[in-house]
Amino acid sequence: MYNKKTIEDVDVKGKRVLARCDFNVPMADGVITDDKRIREALPTIRYLASHGAKVILCSHMGRPKGEFNSKYSLAPVAARLTELLGQEVTLASDVIGPDAKGKAAALKDGEVMLLENVRFHKEEEKNDPAFAKELASMADIFVNDAFGTAHRAHASTAGVADYLPAVCGYLIQKEISIMGGALSNPKRPFVAILGGAKVSDKIGVINNLIEKVDTLIIGGAMAYTFNKARGHKIGISLCEDDKLDLANELLEKAKAKGVKVLLPVDNHVGDKYDPDCHDLFVDSADIPDGYMGLDIGPASVILFGYAIKGAGTVVWNGPMGVSEWDKFSQGTCGVATAVAESNAVSIIGGGDSAAAIEKLGFADRMTHISTGGGASLEFLEGLELPGIACLADKD
Ligand code: 3PG
Repeated sequence: MYNKKTIEDVDVKGKRVLARCDFNVPMADGVITDDKRIREALPTIRYLASHGAKVILCSHMGRPKGEFNSKYSLAPVAARLTELLGQEVTLASDVIGPDAKGKAAALKDGEVMLLENVRFHKEEEKNDPAFAKELASMADIFVNDAFGTAHRAHASTAGVADYLPAVCGYLIQKEISIMGGALSNPKRPFVAILGGAKVSDKIGVINNLIEKVDTLIIGGAMAYTFNKARGHKIGISLCEDDKLDLANELLEKAKAKGVKVLLPVDNHVGDKYDPDCHDLFVDSADIPDGYMGLDIGPASVILFGYAIKGAGTVVWNGPMGVSEWDKFSQGTCGVATAVAESNAVSIIGGGDSAAAIEKLGFADRMTHISTGGGASLEFLEGLELPGIACLADKD
């Protein structure tokens, strides 16, 4: 487990602090549709500003492929930060150019600015040392608080730590202490719920969690590969045929470790991948020819819900079906309801499962909703996150 220095372990007064955040927020027509990642960065920004730092924020937004693209400008983020902080957050029109450097040099203690999207430079994702050094040249201290991007070894998440004293902010500290605590010392029974499309994406997570959990619930499209491996008829459901042996090996491994694996017993199926398809509720062992599973069914919700309600800790990553279509969101909603109603320590990985919980208004009934999608998955997989590994260890 990480034991990293935090912003409280360094003297920030009068110092220029480069703080990497993950402001990669969902946008529609230039408007931020969910500002959770911005709000979660506020405690660190407020601490730095109120302790007299000159705060230089930076982040990526989307994947602009190394060149300027106004669609990916951080201007809406600067405006939202200004509202939330109640103080002006000026946006530099470049990242390491004259505007950024001029604004950074002119900052007074307690002032906050934001650099433009670091991914407007192709050097960012290449973790180019010269680019990292230029970023670092504007500051005295580096603070990483971008948990959502901590799995990327980029110039602004990791490279810059080669040139500056580097510590973590409150968000990274919170994410690693809650998720790390659940993995290393969970209140039992420990139940993991995994959804999503591909077994291949989740092999590492399943392998790591089998070592730790008491019950593993598998839903989402990934479950059809497992059910086919067990000899079920899955119709035209998504399936990774080259992963059938692996699915059986994982089930065997779980059995050998005494881990209970729950797979769907019924499914909500459709005759095509379309929200307006012809749909049926069927037994998971016998999905009719010409039909594909698009959600788990009500009996599976009851089965999974029973395990969830008796849990001491629940970790959930990935929806149970095509949750963005109302008709096939009932399985994910049912699981979200069970998690909300349980007394378990509940930890939700980012992405679709987090979105389903927010949509249902259950967010405040969860112990922790991670701001990381890929990052939380890699954390659960037991992988080292470069954006955290690069920070100074506590003495
Ligand atoms: C995310 O949304 O998962 C992070 O912001 C990282 O974005 P990326 O997958 O484009 O690196």
